[in-house]
Amino acid sequence: MAADPLAADRRRIDFLVHEIDRHNRLYYLDDRPEISDAEYDRLLRELRELEHAHPELRRPDSPTQRVGAPPSEGFAEVRHLVPMLSLDNAMDADEMRSFDDRVRRELEHEEPIEYLGEPKLDGAGVELVYETGRLTVGSTRGDGHVGEDVTANLRLCPSIPLVLATRSPVPERVSVRGEVILPIARFERLNERRLERGLEPFANPRNAAAGALRQLHDIDTRRLRSLEFRAYAIGEGAPDDVTTQAGILATLEAWGFGVSPESETCRGVDALIAYHERRLAARDRMQLEIDGSVAKVNRRDYQAELGTLTRSPRWAIAFKFPPQQETSVVEAIEAQVGRTGALTPVARLKPVRVGGVTVTYASLHNQDEIDRKDVRVHDTVVVQRAGDVIPQIVKVVLSKRPRRTRRYRLPARCPVCRAETLRLEGEAVTRCPNLDCPAQLKNNLRHLASRGALDVEGLGDKLVDQLVERGLVRRFSDVFRLDAETLAGLERMGEKSAANLVTSLERAKRTSLARFLIALGIRDVGEGVAELIASHFGDLDPILKASREELEAIQGVGPTIAESVERFFADPRNAAEVGELRDLGVRWEVSPPKPRGDGPLAGKTFVLTGGLAGMTRTRARKRIQELGGKVTSAVSKKTDYVVAGADPGGKLEKAQQLGVEVLDEAALEKLLGE
Ligand code: IVH
Repeated sequence: MAADPLAADRRRIDFLVHEIDRHNRLYYLDDRPEISDAEYDRLLRELRELEHAHPELRRPDSPTQRVGAPPSEGFAEVRHLVPMLSLDNAMDADEMRSFDDRVRRELEHEEPIEYLGEPKLDGAGVELVYETGRLTVGSTRGDGHVGEDVTANLRLCPSIPLVLATRSPVPERVSVRGEVILPIARFERLNERRLERGLEPFANPRNAAAGALRQLHDIDTRRLRSLEFRAYAIGEGAPDDVTTQAGILATLEAWGFGVSPESETCRGVDALIAYHERRLAARDRMQLEIDGSVAKVNRRDYQAELGTLTRSPRWAIAFKFPPQQETSVVEAIEAQVGRTGALTPVARLKPVRVGGVTVTYASLHNQDEIDRKDVRVHDTVVVQRAGDVIPQIVKVVLSKRPRRTRRYRLPARCPVCRAETLRLEGEAVTRCPNLDCPAQLKNNLRHLASRGALDVEGLGDKLVDQLVERGLVRRFSDVFRLDAETLAGLERMGEKSAANLVTSLERAKRTSLARFLIALGIRDVGEGVAELIASHFGDLDPILKASREELEAIQGVGPTIAESVERFFADPRNAAEVGELRDLGVRWEVSPPKPRGDGPLAGKTFVLTGGLAGMTRTRARKRIQELGGKVTSAVSKKTDYVVAGADPGGKLEKAQQLGVEVLDEAALEKLLGE
């Protein structure tokens, strides 16, 4: 027998087809590519070249056949030989029962009917025609009779077989129906990329999937490759020996299609309802969007007997989930003051049922979010509830905006205490800065009593609640006005514990300047910063008068902190409260101020990178700061030293590029005098 002269090429082509398919799956489906894009391109190019040299060896299921040009002038029409029907809907269990009653009446069937329960996939319905096992035409559902020819785009979808597997006999001509979907994780990534590129994000995976199929120009092939196809029906060419819908799914699977693994046979309507409930409960854990379940009479002879109406079959019904989105009207926008003083704009809505619960409020998060969505009072809005999260406003229905509405701005004064609100640079949140604001008082008092602050033993959360709720403490300083008699009258307080609390309040008054600063609860002023500011100024009065610039000059104090501190003390209410606290006996030891910029490392800026052997990075930073140096995180021309430990990474490279002096650990120790 003559040797096949092309045997080697044939084997190589088989290998390449298999290998490229495998990498496609790894890349698009599993999200864990094993080779670089360049290597992938090399494989594909090699395959193309071999196929070009030997066209007779080109396999119809070759990955090179997935790429093709779509028509340039709109899509051609495709007639569905068997109409693509739609489904009748049931909104609740009662409607499901009437569906089942109807089915049993028509079939004169007393016993429970066997149904197949399937998830109702929320994507775009398509039909794929295969002739002698090869994909010839792929089309959208269109009006059910005529759709659009989107074959070229569908060929890029990796889970659509170009050639049917022949584990099960394949008819001459067969049309397979199913849903093209975009899995949620890929949808989210797609939207992230769109936002990065300044494009409008897609509203939901269904729109993104349907839009992907109908691309005509500048085809986003990546989006097409991210699509998934799940088959659920055969239009023409269903084998006669397949007698049930479950059998249809098994056949489709044998031909190489993905089908919903969540499908289950259900005996009787109660089982169907239970199936639906299970799908609803699992909804948030699914990788793809479903908007209900579909019940299909399992036996095909029964299906034929029941027949179809013009639009939908009598043997199937879609049991819809309660909608997760609804429209409502914004009656008001209220600013709520949280325990930390953050003002959260909240839309009060005309009550509406969304996903099974009544929604009356939806958070608008912050001013930026309001600006982005431009939500106004009296606007009609789309409200969304996803899982257990608080309802959100998706968008404004602009066509329904009444005349003369105005953009919403968070109030300039706190709605609770009337203090002027402020929004620090670079922050999304608008706050009420008033220490005594009733909305924040409990929180502020808890903070004052905490261990790192004034450490008031016996002043627990429950007690704080009582004190504020009974009006015994109306301002921050009022805690130090409490006497044993008043305290003893409170719930769960005996004379003894009242006396103890008075003693610990007395003790707490003797503190340090740093602890006092912490107790005030100034934003961004934690332990480390309080220490830096306290040791720099030595006493409170210079801090009260310090400008932003003076504060910023302290090593370790950045512009955000400086602004927070300055604004805090600039508020006359806070200044007054601080005065009260001092009058009531809160005091600390005064130390001599540390003149600015002293220490051997004054004016020097350090960047630490890589691991140090002899000390932690935190300790190194502290030592540098103690000696007057400043530690920053990014290397720039202003950096004096980059300290490079083990595995230093990109910062070292940057230092070398900019010509910044690099110190090793030994050199740093020497500099620190250790
Ligand atoms: S069967 C005659 N099964 O829902 C049966 N359709 O509202 C018609 N759909 O156009 C289709 N999941 O695009 C069927 N498991 C499923 C489905 C499903 C989603 C879509 C399909 C159809 C629409 C009808």
